[in-house]
Amino acid sequence: EKAGHKHFMAKEIHEQPQTLADVIAAYTDGDRIVPPAAYDWAATDRVQMVACGTAQIACSVAKYWFESLARLPVDVDIASEYRYREGPVGADNTALFVSQSGETADTLAALRYAKGKARAILAVVNVAESTIARDSDVVFPIHAGVEVGVASTKAFVNQLAVLLSLAIHAGVQRGLIDATREAELVAGFRALPGLISSALAIEDRCEALASRLAEASDILFLGRGPMYPMAHEGALKLKEISYIHAEAYASGELKHGPIALVDKTLPVVVFAPMDAIFDKTISNMQEVMARDGQVLLVTDAQGAAQASDGVWEVLTMPRVDPIFAPIVYAVPAQLLAYHTAVQKGTDVDQPRNLAKSVTVE
Ligand code: M6R
Repeated sequence: EKAGHKHFMAKEIHEQPQTLADVIAAYTDGDRIVPPAAYDWAATDRVQMVACGTAQIACSVAKYWFESLARLPVDVDIASEYRYREGPVGADNTALFVSQSGETADTLAALRYAKGKARAILAVVNVAESTIARDSDVVFPIHAGVEVGVASTKAFVNQLAVLLSLAIHAGVQRGLIDATREAELVAGFRALPGLISSALAIEDRCEALASRLAEASDILFLGRGPMYPMAHEGALKLKEISYIHAEAYASGELKHGPIALVDKTLPVVVFAPMDAIFDKTISNMQEVMARDGQVLLVTDAQGAAQASDGVWEVLTMPRVDPIFAPIVYAVPAQLLAYHTAVQKGTDVDQPRNLAKSVTVE
């Protein structure tokens, strides 16, 4: 049942080229993005995205996509905060809930708060017959298949793929993306399963680094732009299964506090694909190295050529259009956590104190 893997989590990580291909097939048709359910993104003025855990991180990445590709403002909330805050929900706002299980108590309560206030309730779910799906107006399935490991991997990647296709589709409907650009983006989508397969080739390196990471008591994750939520994903995965304390910061926040933590015992994982803000992230990374922090730079060949001097280790990822980079950089977030946990001998699929589906508040 684990298809030759030691854990369900490993199996699910390695299934991602296929599960990603499945969701891309469901959201594209020829040169176009065609979501399986209709929604008029031109008729809304703002999106409130609400979720818990990894699903909330997927929403935080999607904020960058919706704001840049569709010029739609996005507020991202943690469901347990949203449900009690009594925040305003405008009649033209769209409320979008993301949940793998579709049964998370706080997400469901948040949905019920928005119901009747927002223009529509949208759900991005894996379990199509779940309560959250049933209570929504428009349902977008993620087609990840059953996910057994408590630490979400393939569902997170497919949540990202669905949210990116919705952002592109919104950009088309709002007149910001023409047919040529849409066709280019669809081609980019279709290249993703292959890029995920190439990214999986860093597994041996992650396994080798895990013995060092497993000795740390704290690990810092840094990133800018959509790599900032991806830093959160790296930290969350690592905490869940290896029980090592990890924290994520936006690279630019380093000197506003967390740099005080840096010394030679602190591994600092930096997610920095070559993009328009690469140099900014690298200068933050150099501030860490100047204080003896042990930097693990996750970048592509171009980034490695420019910035690997003095870093502890570099993980070289395939080159990917910055728009799609969060989907590919989920792989190092997963593999670093997985191999560190295996090294520590923890129960990877059923980590202590955690449940796959959190149906109580
Ligand atoms: O089923 P849901 O997507 O609503 O679950 C939300 C969180 O409980 C979940 O993402 C959790 O954070 C995972 N264990 C993360 O790997």
